[in-house]
Amino acid sequence: METGTRLANKVAIVTGGASGIGAETARVFTDQGAKVVICDVNDALGQAVVDEILSQGGNAIYRPLNVTDEAAWAALVEETEDSYGKLDILTNIAGVSGRDPQQNTQTTLTAGGLMEDQTLETWNKVMEINATGTFLGTRTAIAPMRRAGGGSIINISSICGIVGSWANAAYHASKGAVRIFSKSAAIQYAHEGIRVNSIHPGFVDTPMTQPGHTNPEIAGLRLEATPLGRFGVPRDIAMGCVYLASDEAAWITGSELVIDGGLTAA
Ligand SMILES: NC(=O)c1ccc[n+]([C@@H]2O[C@H](COP(=O)([O-])OP(=O)(O)OC[C@H]3O[C@@H](n4cnc5c(N)ncnc54)[C@H](O)[C@@H]3O)[C@@H](O)[C@H]2O)c1
Repeated sequence: METGTRLANKVAIVTGGASGIGAETARVFTDQGAKVVICDVNDALGQAVVDEILSQGGNAIYRPLNVTDEAAWAALVEETEDSYGKLDILTNIAGVSGRDPQQNTQTTLTAGGLMEDQTLETWNKVMEINATGTFLGTRTAIAPMRRAGGGSIINISSICGIVGSWANAAYHASKGAVRIFSKSAAIQYAHEGIRVNSIHPGFVDTPMTQPGHTNPEIAGLRLEATPLGRFGVPRDIAMGCVYLASDEAAWITGSELVIDGGLTAA
């Protein structure tokens, strides 16, 4: 893979780094010269991504992290500073759709059932991982980024954080929370050189969307709604992360980068 220096000398934490968009973001970050701490709850997959990066000459380590665990966040950031001397970039990518894990193929338009059928337990789980996890990570990163003289926090929302749909209402709510939380954080910490932005992917082929995209009916509807006529690939989103993480985006904070093949333009 082509290498560059867009993130040379930067230290990054990537949550959800074991799979899909997070794994690809970790790959391109290391490709661009960053040292990356990959975190996830899937230790085997996370370590496999690290091994792949190391075999290609990149610099990465894996650390287990459940993003809902406040104490684990504090320990992770402390270890990152101890190991690498600073923290410049945090990408909050870990997330769940709220789909029943037993459902290998999605049979309805909603990944998590209609609102009136949804349990409080599922609602809380989706909000806790997607929204509270993003809050905890962002909050924990502020002090080390202050010590580093600034930083870039990138929170993965979704087009579901901008528009409503038939999809899981808890997922929409959690991603809407990520969107507006990011703007608040951006305003509160801009004067310290800490930038906070959100990214809003459309339908990207990853393990998360695989159950929907293997159902031709659902895949067809989603493709029809996507003007550029294909599903996104993780690299489409990862390159947006590289831009927002780099000094090229030095004057960008509180913004929302939509990467959706044109879906929300309609
Ligand atoms: N794939 C899409 O079409 C799409 C669209 C919009 C937004 N997103 C968002 O992009 C992000 C990445 O999704 P993806 O498509 O790569 O899915 P994915 O399922 O491939 O990756 C999600 C990763 O998050 C990890 N994770 C889940 N819960 C966690 C927790 N509590 N703590 C730490 N890690 C945890 C999983 O183990 C997994 O490795 C998610 O936030 C998702 O909501 C995806």
